[in-house]
Amino acid sequence: MARTRSELADALATLRSASSRVALVPTMGAMHEGHRALVARAAELADAVVVSIFLNPLQFAPGEDLGKYPKTFASDLELCRAEGVAVVFAPTPDVVYPAGEPLVRVAAGPLGAVLEGASRPGHFDGVLTVVAKLFGLVGPDVAVFGEKDAQQFALVAQMVRDLDMPVAIEAVPIVRTAAGLALSSRNIYLDAPAAAAALALVGAVRAAVSAGSGGAAADQVLSAARAVLAAEAHIEVDYCVLVDRETFDDLPSGARTGLLLVAARVGTTRLIDNGVVELRASVEKSEAWS
Ligand code: PAF
Repeated sequence: MARTRSELADALATLRSASSRVALVPTMGAMHEGHRALVARAAELADAVVVSIFLNPLQFAPGEDLGKYPKTFASDLELCRAEGVAVVFAPTPDVVYPAGEPLVRVAAGPLGAVLEGASRPGHFDGVLTVVAKLFGLVGPDVAVFGEKDAQQFALVAQMVRDLDMPVAIEAVPIVRTAAGLALSSRNIYLDAPAAAAALALVGAVRAAVSAGSGGAAADQVLSAARAVLAAEAHIEVDYCVLVDRETFDDLPSGARTGLLLVAARVGTTRLIDNGVVELRASVEKSEAWS
């Protein structure tokens, strides 16, 4: 395990002498089966996997859960060991930010200001800044992220494109509990009634997917998802939208797929979920009718 920059550099030098391709899986710890899927995908894409475990203060707004964010370092290391991770980089904030809060940061731009970015101002600047630093410190050939954080993935991909970063980006599908709840480190905050209420998020995604495949138009798809959320009294919905998969803008008319994004609070725990909605049937129907 590497704690410092020089330990990381030494570990990477050894790795690079034996491995032609290195994959990075950035995490904030509190690893679960979703992270295991990221590591497993990274291992398919490279000869060696580096996992970073760093609870990045820069991406938490004042009043968010930085102080109580779950920490499961021993089991994180065990998961990494079981998955054959070559290097775990687990720095403290002073290693990542030796001069304190960075004065120069990556600005996430317009996509960083909507949806999650509107609810969590500054969040995506903090995410992109630390991801850019991890890319700089590790120099991976490929980096792997989860699709649950769809907006984060889109922004990382945009940063890599816009700033010509020499790294490939790979997304891994959401891993869910048997009941369907998207795995998240924050699920640890949920007691049984809250976990039951949280199923409304996946219920909304599934209602949207099923309405879309049944031929419903985009507005009906959205209504189907929102109806599921409205029926659950124990959640507070932040947003439920159907957007363009690439831009996260409103769906253009005639779109054949969209991304249903939902965010809600269950008690004090904020959760997100999403799913791709095929709209082909409705488009074909309306074309046939025109
Ligand atoms: O998705 C996360 O866990 C974090 O946002 C990331 C990408 C590790 C950056 O801190």
